[in-house]
Amino acid sequence: MLRESTNRKSQTQNSLFQILYCLTLVDSVKKNCFFIIYAPYKFENNYVFKKKILIGIVALLGVIQFIKPERNEGEVFGINHISNVITVPADVSKILVVSCNDCHSNQTYYPWYANIQPLAWWLAGHVNDGKKHLNFSEFATYSAKKQNHKMEEIAEMIEKHEMPLGSYTLVHTDAVLNAEQQRILIDWAKANYKPGIE
Ligand code: HEC
Repeated sequence: MLRESTNRKSQTQNSLFQILYCLTLVDSVKKNCFFIIYAPYKFENNYVFKKKILIGIVALLGVIQFIKPERNEGEVFGINHISNVITVPADVSKILVVSCNDCHSNQTYYPWYANIQPLAWWLAGHVNDGKKHLNFSEFATYSAKKQNHKMEEIAEMIEKHEMPLGSYTLVHTDAVLNAEQQRILIDWAKANYKPGIE
């Protein structure tokens, strides 16, 4: 619901970006297919060879559509959510929801192309990897030492501009953190980091 409060302009921008991104993708597929289809002509005009390759590609794409990765569609704000052990002010929460939760919580907001393989596999890889390192929905299950270390990591990752991932903000332009949002996250993470518990 917080997601809906991000302004309309950035949502339109976001959709336009997604369309542009897909057009580039389609273009690259077209170019590569063109090469695969016409490459045999360079050597000999082998129609059967060309047809076999084409059928092979189409069949493979068809088959992999059925191999769907498991979706990350659990509960974000359950009993183990970070807000049960650390105070998460509204402004911080809003940033986490828009910019981090897709990879660091038990729920991902999936774009339409998440239904297409192998894109869905690639997305699932990021989500699983992100959750393994830091999951705000499971934060309360971490030991005090681990929680403390994660707060330190959050400040560090934002300071180094390593999060949110560049491949993500390329498409999710609304997740890009401006200077103020970065400061809010860093201040919050540092305020909750206790150097003693290392
Ligand atoms: C597109 C998915 C994605 C998004 C969005 C994202 N992350 Fe990450 N994050 C990852 C992945 C994958 C890793 C693990 C690999 C790595 O460190 O690059 C990671 C690692 C981290 C780590 C390191 C944890 C550790 O102890 O190793 C922190 C801290 C972190 N992210 C914070 C954030 C914050 C804060 C945001 C939002 C501002 C965010 N991330 C947004 C995918 C994401």
